[in-house]
Amino acid sequence: MVDRAVERLQQGSVALGVWGCGHIGASAMYHFCQQGVRCIGYDIADTRVSEIRDGHFLSTDTAGIERLESPGAPVIATTDWRRMIDQRVLFHIIAVPTERGADPSSAALEDIMPRVCEVIRATDLDGLIPVVSIESTIQPSWLDTIVFPALHAAGLRPGVDVLIGAAPRRDWFSGRDHTLETLPRIVGGSTDEATRFLSEVYSLVCGQIVPARDAYHAAFTKVIENLLRFQGLALANSLALAFPQYDMTHVLGLASTKWNIPRYHPSMGIGGHCIPLAPRYALAEGGPDNGYLAPVREAVAFNDGYFRRLYEDRLRDLLKDCRSIAVLGLAYTADAKMHKLSPAIDAVACLKETPRLQAHDPYYTSDEIEDICGVTRLSFPQGLAECDGIVLVTSHTPYLTEPVEGFIRPGTIIVDNFGAWRDRTFAPGVMYHEVGRPAGDIGEARQYIPDPTAVGIG
Ligand SMILES: NC(=O)c1ccc[n+]([C@@H]2O[C@H](COP(=O)([O-])OP(=O)(O)OC[C@H]3O[C@@H](n4cnc5c(N)ncnc54)[C@H](O)[C@@H]3O)[C@@H](O)[C@H]2O)c1
Repeated sequence: MVDRAVERLQQGSVALGVWGCGHIGASAMYHFCQQGVRCIGYDIADTRVSEIRDGHFLSTDTAGIERLESPGAPVIATTDWRRMIDQRVLFHIIAVPTERGADPSSAALEDIMPRVCEVIRATDLDGLIPVVSIESTIQPSWLDTIVFPALHAAGLRPGVDVLIGAAPRRDWFSGRDHTLETLPRIVGGSTDEATRFLSEVYSLVCGQIVPARDAYHAAFTKVIENLLRFQGLALANSLALAFPQYDMTHVLGLASTKWNIPRYHPSMGIGGHCIPLAPRYALAEGGPDNGYLAPVREAVAFNDGYFRRLYEDRLRDLLKDCRSIAVLGLAYTADAKMHKLSPAIDAVACLKETPRLQAHDPYYTSDEIEDICGVTRLSFPQGLAECDGIVLVTSHTPYLTEPVEGFIRPGTIIVDNFGAWRDRTFAPGVMYHEVGRPAGDIGEARQYIPDPTAVGIG
């Protein structure tokens, strides 16, 4: 059955249907349609549907939009999910958001599951069994509380009328190194046949498939790998605050020369919607009375108020006399237009009493900056000349390439999240502080070990 199903997908007599066409859903469509698989994507947002119809598979919210472009690609994008029925969808990919603010949310999954079932019930696949593959990050027990109950309610028998699986995503959209094609892909089905089905279909677009023992374990891998990253990052941040007399960035760099220790850089905070949410999924899955998860609970509590602590312990004294501060970078990671849970937002909140507070991000317009932060957009780089404080949050390429030294006046305090400007030679009297270095360690010549390749964010 699996071989026949994959063959029919490749021939185009059956289709792949995507529920939720954001970064994850639309990029899946892009890669599958490049392999000749007929795709239809449903999204509630008109703008997203229009972008895909124009060939822009990554949301134009994201920097680097020249990636995943395919004008004229053989895909249908629609806001009418019933159109899936005519398209004879065999393989359903669930890619709706599963977070609201800083918390996991199953609302969109609950919303679409009855519709997915309705499409399955109304579609004649000539004896082939349809598959539902969940690519969204989920709490694994949602399979039991949302997915299977929706199938039962629709009269669909798992394993007989439909196969269920999880194939979580790890892609990193702001670069070209960690993509759907290159990353090992974990897949797990509710039955062995489902796992084999997922493996065959995903091997059309992924270079390496790693089968999990079932859908629960596949889904949980995403949570746990991000939780491990979260705990390491949160610990690095707490160590830097706990030992103010030490250059913790330096110590962690030295420690990373041991074969089994990744490199961490203390930072202004852990942003994005993957890493900071992972402990919340794990805590929800483990249950409120699960004492073994106490370290995770503590790390979450520490992280929730982290920027303010960093500010009060380390940054306030440095910036207290500044009258005009610029926050550079709104995104939580370089060269992406993604500001979910970005430390830049916390920075603006902590600095709001500054007489002249501005922000800048090359990927956000003045209106967007005003909407998100309530401050005006700095004119970069000229506006730096008017600042006596600069908080460099995000290492966007324009900040790395622009010769900002010519604009920054003596007396300016620079606070740099990841040391992006540490090798610059500023005018005498400019004071430079990199997060993770000792509190009084300002502007001195130091001997640094080489830059990490991946540090501090996820
Ligand atoms: N972006 C990443 O880097 C990444 C990486 C790994 C996993 N994930 C996970 O993948 C899932 C999707 O993330 P994303 O980044 O693609 O999100 P996104 O916000 O870019 O896209 C989600 C899309 O779903 C649509 N949508 C929302 N509710 C819907 C509904 N009820 N019905 C149909 N469409 C709906 C939205 O309009 C949007 O276009 C999430 O669970 C996320 O945690 C994301």
